[in-house]
Order: sequence, then C-alpha cells, then structure tokens
Amino acid sequence: MKKVYLETYGCQMNVSDSERVSSVLKSDGYEITESEEEAEIVLINTCSVREKAEQKLYTRVGQIRKESGNDKKVGVLGCVAQLEGETLFSQNRGIDFIVGTKAVGRISSAIDASFKGEKDFIDLGERENEYDWSVDKDYRHSKYIAFVPIIEGCNKFCTYCIVPFSRGREISLAPAQIIRQVLTLRREGVREVHLIGQNVNSYRPKSTEGLEDFHGATPFSRLLRAVAATGIERIKFNTSFPRDFHPDIVDAINENENLCNWVHLPVQSGSNSVLRAMRRGHTIESYFERIDKIRESPRRIALTTDIIVGFPGEAIEDFEDTKAAVQYCEYDSAYIFRYSPRPGTPAFERADDVSFEEKTRRFLELESLQKINQQNALESYLGRKVKVLVEKNSTRNIDELSGHSTCHKVVNFKGSSEMLGKIVEVKISEAKSFTLYGEIC
Ligand code: SAH
Ligand code: SF4
Ligand code: F3S
Repeated sequence: MKKVYLETYGCQMNVSDSERVSSVLKSDGYEITESEEEAEIVLINTCSVREKAEQKLYTRVGQIRKESGNDKKVGVLGCVAQLEGETLFSQNRGIDFIVGTKAVGRISSAIDASFKGEKDFIDLGERENEYDWSVDKDYRHSKYIAFVPIIEGCNKFCTYCIVPFSRGREISLAPAQIIRQVLTLRREGVREVHLIGQNVNSYRPKSTEGLEDFHGATPFSRLLRAVAATGIERIKFNTSFPRDFHPDIVDAINENENLCNWVHLPVQSGSNSVLRAMRRGHTIESYFERIDKIRESPRRIALTTDIIVGFPGEAIEDFEDTKAAVQYCEYDSAYIFRYSPRPGTPAFERADDVSFEEKTRRFLELESLQKINQQNALESYLGRKVKVLVEKNSTRNIDELSGHSTCHKVVNFKGSSEMLGKIVEVKISEAKSFTLYGEIC
C-alpha cells in the first residue's frame, strides 16, 4: 500500500476537496499518513488568493526536495495548479504532476501515471459527470461537523480576485442531492453541517425540484428551509455575497432553531468609490441595510466579515470610511487583508499605489479598532447561556472541553470526554483572547 501525505492551504472549499481526495485514495487502495517522512507521495492542495499563500507552495516543494531528495513523488493540486498549469514544471524543479481544481476526483490516475514514468503529468479537465461529493467519515475534518458544498466557482469577478479564474463559473448542486447528503450525515452521527461555497447565497440550481414545499423568496433561502427540515441539529453557511443577501435569509434563520446565529458577510471596504472600483455590486448603504435586517432579528445573530486595506487608489478618506463601517457594524470578528496584486485580474493593471508600510499601518489601525468590537461582542455573552457542540478536549487543559456555540464562538469549559459530540448548554463567565469560558448548566 503506497502512503500519501496531503497538506491543504486556503479556504473551506480546498479543505473539502482534500477530504474527498483522501476518500478516493483510500478506496483506490492508498494509505493516508500523518507522517510526511513515511510517505512516498506528497500532495499539496494550494491557494492563490494572495501572493503569500501562493509562495507557500514554492517554499514547501523546496523543503521537501531538500529533505528527501528525489525519493518522493510531489503532486500539486488546487488553485495554483489550475492557474499556473504546466509553467509550474518549467519554473520549479521537483514537481511530478499537477491536478486542477475540478480534476481532483481523478487523483489516483495522476499518481499512477507518474509511477509509470510519465513525466510532467497534468490534468486540468472538468469534473466527471458522476462526481461523488461525499466524504469517507474517517477523513472529515471533524467527527461531528461536515462541510457540504452547495455551489462551486464564482461569476462575480471582483477586480482584485483570482478565484473566478481558478474555480471557474458558478455551478449549483441539485437540491435533492444536498438534502440526501445531509440526511446521510445525520444518520452517521454528524451534528452540524456547514453549507459551503464562494457565495452560497448565489445558489441557483438548474431545477428547484425538491424545494417545492418551501415558499422562500430565493433558491438559497428555500434550500436553507429544506435543509432545516431534515432535522439536522445545526446548520451554518458561508460565505454570503452582500449583493445577493436577500432579507428572506434572515427570515429563514428566525423561523428555524437549527439555522445558527451566524452570518459571514464580507464588506471589503466602507468607501463607495473603492467598492465601485472593486466591482463588488453593493454600496455601503445597501450593505448597511442588510446589517440592519440582521440586527433586527429577535435572535442575536453574530456577524463576521472580510476587509481589504490598500486597494489601488484607496485614499485616506476611503480608509476612514472603512473604519466608520467597522464601527457601524460592530463585527464579532473580521479577517483583515492587505491588498495583494494578482496577475490576470483587472486590478493588477492598476498601480499598486498604497505602499506596503501604509497598508500595514492601516491594517494595524483597523485591527486595533476591531479588537475592541470583538471584546465587546464577547463580553455581551457574559452571564448568558449558549449552546455548544462539544468538539474536542481543549489543548490548554486535559479536563477542559472545547467547541463552538451556535454564534460560532470558541467556548471552553470543564467536562469529561464522554461529552464529546453532544450539544450542551454553557453559562458564560469569562471572555478573553477571542474565547468564551463558562460552566455547563
Ligand atoms: N467569495 C468571498 C471571498 C472569497 S476570498 C466574497 O466575495 O466575500 C476570501 C477573502 O480574501 C476575500 O473576502 C477578500 O477579503 C480576500 N482577498 C481576495 N483577493 C484578495 C487580494 N487580491 N488581496 C487581498 N485580499 C484578497
Ligand atoms: Fe472573489 Fe468576488 Fe468571487 Fe468573492 S465574489 S470569490 S471576492 S470574485
Ligand atoms: Fe484560495 Fe482557491 Fe480558496 S485561491 S481561497 S483555495 S478558492
């Protein structure tokens, strides 16, 4: 049995692809190992969203070759593979084969070809018609939580972003297929599903068969109601695209206890001129309307976001608008990124005119502002009870457990391993360093 070591960078879609790669390899007779040293094959599932992410691939290939010479086969998967294609072979010694984002189902053929002596094997083809989206339970990132892709690709072409090029056009999975998968997962003991996609709320299947009984306004909110009706205990979804964030999504959450109290809605910038240059399709005012609708919910729905600082032409006034947006939205947490020019995107043609130092200054200023929001958000849970899915023993303390609340906060509390996989109520007594602490009640 050949041993494979697989490492994954990037977003949940990549994690999800890797879970299926492991599943396919297992059924084709490979062994997935945790030890890179023991492996005959190393697979790197790559991300290209920012330059630093892409750079990881080149560093890793260099390291692997330095440590093990030519003993191992090295295969590159994911977004860098899809975008760079065969130029990766000419520019990097040490890569044996390349498998694109839609070809991951054929990973075994790529490995076979490479072992048979085929040099520079490359597969950037489309998914098979009968592509299997399920994951062997041994390879899910958690025993109790499963990622369920509902839409892949992106049609939005925000001017800074490489994803539409690496992942292709939006394709929505059939509702019946999604529901069947959730029901199977539930039977297998999964307590929480994450419906994932670059923009989940752009969900638009070819046929809405299977969604008839749910009278929501958009296919996505109808899907949410249908998934809620499966009875799976918790449902989370991300990422949501602001322009397509219909108020009915909030209504669906309000109506269904198992739709969790969390929305991730990337704002990117608070300035209308930057948003226009990014071609996001939303203004800051229309974004705030969505936020207001979320805040009006009788539930306390946690709100998280992504922000880019230092986009080409971002003046200090634009950055002030972003600070104001962060203050208005009082995010529970925010991922802040320095703009990174990506070759092939429209923004790449513009001068990257905010210096790295200035990007860093804006990054730090925004981060310290957001830290206060984050602490306030955490403290708002003090004395309150939250429902937590017990996911693992905490790394800090052997008799402490750790999990996420419905509002997607990390919660640590005392308890024993028998509670793993259960949903418990925890009364919050402390909030520090991005984590809530409490006692089971
Ligand atoms: N589809 C999601 C985002 C996917 S990419 C959405 O539209 O919200 C994840 C995040 O990476 C983006 O939200 C953005 O904040 C960041 N990002 C994407 N391209 C970037 C770039 N060129 N430089 C810096 N950050 C970038
Ligand atoms: Fe990138 Fe925009 Fe698509 Fe998100 S919506 S993946 S930021 S192009
Ligand atoms: Fe990265 Fe590709 Fe995801 S570029 S963020 S791994 S879609």
